[in-house]
Amino acid sequence: MSDIFDFGKKVDDYAVMGNPISHSKSPSIHSLFAEQTQQSLLYTAIHVDVGGFDQAVGNFAASGGKGLNITVPFKQEAWDLVTQRSERAERAGAVNTIKIDGSQLYGDNTDGVGLVNDLTINNDIELKDKSILLMGAGGAARGVLIPLLKQNPSLLFIANRTPDRAKDLASDFSDAGNISGGGYDAIKDMKFDVVINATAASLQGELPPLPDTLLNEGASCYDMMYGAKPTTFMDWATKHQAAKVMDGLGMLVEQAAESFFLWRNVKPETKTVIEKLRKELLE
Ligand code: ATR
Repeated sequence: MSDIFDFGKKVDDYAVMGNPISHSKSPSIHSLFAEQTQQSLLYTAIHVDVGGFDQAVGNFAASGGKGLNITVPFKQEAWDLVTQRSERAERAGAVNTIKIDGSQLYGDNTDGVGLVNDLTINNDIELKDKSILLMGAGGAARGVLIPLLKQNPSLLFIANRTPDRAKDLASDFSDAGNISGGGYDAIKDMKFDVVINATAASLQGELPPLPDTLLNEGASCYDMMYGAKPTTFMDWATKHQAAKVMDGLGMLVEQAAESFFLWRNVKPETKTVIEKLRKELLE
């Protein structure tokens, strides 16, 4: 075929949908991935009005779009909308990645594997046979449970301000590993190797009530939030001599890399992308 027929050929379209969306880092992350792996694609951010999600996905698919990332507040609606789900998306109750194939919408959730990859690969933290405390029992916590349990920790304890939410969540996943839940008073005499903050407390500069004796020697602390400055929980972890203290920037890039892999069957390299975003955050 002559090149002339390729001139102006539409590249594959991808997008992130959310509300708000203007501060999303996904377009720059996926553009960096595309450049690095020499994949020809366009990735944009689409602001979707509340109540307009199904229509927006339908329009995007009808125009030939190949895949979507879904962010707040539409992950549950995406779960309802897709025609097929991965096991981890099924159990997460939320979809953050859609692969579009004609009228088929395949839904996945890459948040948990993003967290696990950032912990185990980027930060060299072993989870097998370790005790993990997960703070929070909302959507962010639910989304990471299956990948965390697949690492075979000795215990995964969910602590939450509203204890019943943590107990219910743990019982939903009791078939998948050693998991239990309760309020923060339940952990006052417990010690953990890995503590992960999946609450929204950092957004308000708040901290769940943690006992001073919470961390085992050599413990790692991870906040799923990120920003230019350490979160309140990260400051607490440093003060309590955690061996490693991390924010969620690596998780953001790793979940994106898993989405990219699902769509393009190519695994991008993440380290340089994390470093670049970190630099931009600090500027
Ligand atoms: P997300 O989808 O981000 O998880 P969510 O479902 O609203 O959002 O859940 C927010 C989580 O953060 C919940 O576990 C919430 O605790 P409650 O279930 O008791 O509401 C937790 N959270 C929010 N602010 C908090 C704070 N200041 N201290 C402790 N936990 C907090």
